[in-house]
Amino acid sequence: MHHAKAGSHTKVTVVGAGNVGSNTARRIAEKDLAHEVVMIDIVDGLPQGLALDINQSAPVERFSTHVIGTNDYADTAGSDVCVITAGLPRKPGMSRMDLLDKNAEIVGGVTRQLVEQSPDTILIVVSNPLDEMTYLASLVSGLPKERVMGMAGVLDSSRLRYFIAEKLEVGPYEVEAMTLGSHGDQMIALPRHATVQGKPLPELVDEAAIQELFQRTKDGGAEIVGYLKTGSAFYAPSSSATTMVASVMQDDGGVHPTCAWTTGQYGINDVYLGVPAKLGSSGVDEIVELELNDEERAQLTEAAEAIRSKCEELAARR
Ligand code: NAI
Ligand code: 2OP
Repeated sequence: MHHAKAGSHTKVTVVGAGNVGSNTARRIAEKDLAHEVVMIDIVDGLPQGLALDINQSAPVERFSTHVIGTNDYADTAGSDVCVITAGLPRKPGMSRMDLLDKNAEIVGGVTRQLVEQSPDTILIVVSNPLDEMTYLASLVSGLPKERVMGMAGVLDSSRLRYFIAEKLEVGPYEVEAMTLGSHGDQMIALPRHATVQGKPLPELVDEAAIQELFQRTKDGGAEIVGYLKTGSAFYAPSSSATTMVASVMQDDGGVHPTCAWTTGQYGINDVYLGVPAKLGSSGVDEIVELELNDEERAQLTEAAEAIRSKCEELAARR
């Protein structure tokens, strides 16, 4: 067992018992990251049934986390971390941005109810469009900015790492790579910072191959939506959300590409943006400033401005 707060009762809430939410709750439980995981959804019976099913795997999987399924926010009171996965997923042909209005309504309502019960919680937003929903959760919650963050970069980076590993025929965990920017068209790859078995990626493949790998990463979500037809990815997304929860619950200072509030890093201010961030028990402890060249810096600024203008639209409509 490796709970950060030894002795005290630790609790994580996952909102949404859909594909991403239920798998996130399961992964958190399997890793024993909290004493209790509360899964909440608007559909009566869904979180209750799934929670019972997960709990019944505990003797075999050997974890002691207790999962509670509910439709009542009172059960979420006192959560250390809340992961928001409520909302609609994409259908084929839809962009993440097509989800903006509907999911803004859902994420706004969910956030309000969560902070009523857990005024000191940390929020990790997963619902799309990710960068805008993270901003909205921050606005509605009134929480300090470092306590509200979004998950996307871990997923996009993991996809890129997998594609590189597949191409170079090495173990996926032998590849390090990071994407920054937005969870969408303004995603930025940093091939100069990517390594395979410790060697810089640009020494191993040519520029055209790098571009191809990155394009597939950018389209990674859509490729899966195209196959599934009725929904979007959830195994890698739930892994990605869980590793962020782990860093917060275990206060391990892990650096993850995170949708975090910028305060001057990379010359960018006052916008939620995908950047490397050190995560711990108070949320985003620090944004890590990698050395970027002029082109990468310009791309990051462009991503920030695109997110900023969408967020302004969103704020104006409230
Ligand atoms: P899903 O449709 O399987 O599950 C969504 C769940 O939210 C449903 O069970 C639904 O009943 C519930 N829900 C709807 N309104 C609610 C409310 N007001 N309160 C509580 N629960 C509510 O969808 P899935 O696949 O789990 O995706 C969830 C969201 O996560 C989508 O917006 C999707 O686009 C996003 N996503 C984001 C990723 C990222 O990298 N940030 C990756 C994968 C998914
Ligand atoms: C993904 O990238 C849909 O954002 C989700 O799979």
